[in-house]
Amino acid sequence: MLTIAISKGRLQDETLALFAGAGMAAEEEALSSRRLLVEAAGGRCNFIFVKPADVPTYVEYGVADAGVCGRDVLLESQADVHEPLDLRLGRCQIAVAGRHEVVGEDYNLLATVRVATKYPRITAAYFQERGIPIEVVTLSGSVELAPLLGLSDRIVDLVETGRTLRENGLEVIDVITESTARLIVNRASFHLKRAEVSALITDLAGALKLGARG
Ligand code: PRP
Repeated sequence: MLTIAISKGRLQDETLALFAGAGMAAEEEALSSRRLLVEAAGGRCNFIFVKPADVPTYVEYGVADAGVCGRDVLLESQADVHEPLDLRLGRCQIAVAGRHEVVGEDYNLLATVRVATKYPRITAAYFQERGIPIEVVTLSGSVELAPLLGLSDRIVDLVETGRTLRENGLEVIDVITESTARLIVNRASFHLKRAEVSALITDLAGALKLGARG
């Protein structure tokens, strides 16, 4: 039986709907509980529900054979896992943003730029490539507050609808990369549970095709 780590929060419902479409529905009753480990109907896999940023860790260490998380989380974690399938859910961007009044300002004028983010590695790599000196302020949420309160000059954050930026007087300065949900697989499980993992990938790919048609 496979153990699959599911990201709690914005990706959870769509991910479970996709698994249900692939013949691995989580039991409704268990989903409405606070249980963090739930068996799929038919006993083909167990789901564990974890914070998105922890999914690559569970999979890399083999506590979960597979997992679903955003490409944003995967890039930031640098976990050594297989990434066999783009699940095309939760499409969003990782972007640099700032206050309307200062988006036109040249980085040179800001000396060392303070950037608040949940993605310190992605942020450091982006600015390093451009030779812009920055100080990263790592936050774990509500990043859009940072420029409003003077904690940072810029933010690097996930943008889905753009509503959070708009409603906080911020705008996108540059898109760093696009992100969608990915199926990731532990390297050992990929070989040791080859048949089960292959079936998982095939069934999810099939459900994606059906979803695209429907
Ligand atoms: C994410 C992200 C933005 C927001 C973007 O936060 O960090 O704040 O969603 O979505 P939008 O473009 O559709 O407005 P999340 O809701 O995950 O909560 P967080 O602030 O606790 O990270």
